[in-house]
Amino acid sequence: MSVAHAGASVLLALVLWALVKRLTATKARAIDIAGPEKDHWLKGNYHRIFQDGLEYNLQLTEKYGGAVRIHALLGEEQLYVSDPRALHHIVVKEQDVYEETDMFIMGNKLIFGEGLISTLGEQHRKQRKMLNPVFSLANMRDLLPTIQPIADQLCDLLVSKITAGEQEIDIVPWTSRGALEYICQAALGYTFDALNPEKTSEYAEALRRFSPTALRLILIRPFVPFFVRNFSLQWRNRIMDWYPSSLMHRTCKGIYADKKSAIEGTLVDGSLKLNEPQGATGFRSRGRDIMSILLRANRPSNVRDMLTESELLGQMNTIIFAGFETTAIATSRLLYLLASRPDAQARLCREVRAAKMAHVGDSARWQDVNLSYDVLMGLPYLDALVRETLRVYPPTSILSRTTRKSTVLPLEFPVRSASGQEVTSVPLPENTTVIISILAANHNKEIWGEDASDWRPERWLTSTGERILPGNRDGIKYPGVYASMMTFLGGGRACIGFKFAEMEMNQVLTTLLSTLHFSLPAEKEIYWKMNGLQVPVVRPPAGDGQTPQVPLKIRLVRDDDY
Ligand code: HEM
Repeated sequence: MSVAHAGASVLLALVLWALVKRLTATKARAIDIAGPEKDHWLKGNYHRIFQDGLEYNLQLTEKYGGAVRIHALLGEEQLYVSDPRALHHIVVKEQDVYEETDMFIMGNKLIFGEGLISTLGEQHRKQRKMLNPVFSLANMRDLLPTIQPIADQLCDLLVSKITAGEQEIDIVPWTSRGALEYICQAALGYTFDALNPEKTSEYAEALRRFSPTALRLILIRPFVPFFVRNFSLQWRNRIMDWYPSSLMHRTCKGIYADKKSAIEGTLVDGSLKLNEPQGATGFRSRGRDIMSILLRANRPSNVRDMLTESELLGQMNTIIFAGFETTAIATSRLLYLLASRPDAQARLCREVRAAKMAHVGDSARWQDVNLSYDVLMGLPYLDALVRETLRVYPPTSILSRTTRKSTVLPLEFPVRSASGQEVTSVPLPENTTVIISILAANHNKEIWGEDASDWRPERWLTSTGERILPGNRDGIKYPGVYASMMTFLGGGRACIGFKFAEMEMNQVLTTLLSTLHFSLPAEKEIYWKMNGLQVPVVRPPAGDGQTPQVPLKIRLVRDDDY
């Protein structure tokens, strides 16, 4: 028998052993809450939750309430949660009890290094302390001029593709390339020239392949902790080499080294004067990007809180990964919704035009006006539209946590036990996985009203157009950082980049809608699959139902559009 065969046999035996252990352990760890029967002996209910699962997820909560016992992979029972009080306990009050799973932390460490999404407890708190100020409002204001030209470039590119009066264009590659540019220029001060149609960046390709690869590997994810504990670093590196993230890691390492030497070489009087090359690809921001701000804050004078080089590198990979696909999906969804709702598009166009006209100078065209941060973030209808889209269609729909000790999870709204009794709390043994359903929380009728699943931007406005905050029923609301929705989570692990995401989407929409009009193609049905992330496809026969795409008809705006 060859060494490879022997290795494979040992691995198979270990996997079987882990499977048997998991199946037998489950019986002792049953969660006494009502929930669906197993749909599959191996996959439980997971494939229904994670593969095109929008309806299934909403039905789970509709039928069983805010806490549901589900069957996960390999016979494990898990708790699926959307109750507001339970989520407050999980992400805020008892965050240390409900930590990220080992599978998530160890998997992320392998892939991204020691960034925010790979660390727990004190190390995570230390990293947040250093990084929170980097994402302050003042720094976001400073970053706006970095992203404005990228939005202009995206708009010019789409205009250049309109050869006839109206053109069908798949916007996914362009929102995706745009999102890569925003995050790379903002986070690294670096451009991959991703909006150049002539160019394909290996790095961008690796990022795009990343999530589909991760999804395909869902069945082996539970073995990540085992893999990390039992394989040497050398073997782990060898195996990880084929994963798209290894190229991302190498690229970030190169950028980090250049940036660090640029900063170290020019830090003379405490101020940063970067001598950075200005090319099609290369450094752009002249020190105003997130990593430069972080590197400046991470000074030896602050030795107790200083991040190590490996932690700094980890943040680069993490921020780009976390900020890329999420905002690309949200932007595609926004443009798709505007195309399907001409009334909403016209109202937004009117608001943007009025704001730009109020700031137009003598010679400029109103379309070319770049709004200041405060005006951009203060447009009521734009704000309502973005919030409502992120509420009804959260780009990340589901997250998981695990109980680090046995505990009792209190509920706002009672549910049924397995034997049918009404209960207001759920006892959970140590090491129980808890699924946070962002989607079900954002669609909770008790909090958002009977029309919770309808996309209605007006719910965020009074009848006279002033901003209001719905999602609060007699003081009961979700612990989200962004209004009272769970899209960006809440508590100590909430999305650190939500202000950046909001600013990016506002800028893209105001830029594109000043020049372009979007509508749906007549013969193509666009359908959004929910596979953990949202994936838009065109249904057969016009499409293959698989390839991510959002074909929209695009033309220049006309006076009668307003
Ligand atoms: C619409 C866009 C976005 C959505 C819906 C979103 C959503 C989320 C959610 C739900 C989490 C919590 C994940 C967990 O606990 O497992 C998270 C964490 C995070 N997000 Fe975002 N995000 C978005 C954009 C961004 C952007 C633009 C950035 C960076 C500029 C970013 C950086 C991060 C980071 C670094 C974390 C980890 C925070 C921590 O663990 O302390 N995100 N995001």
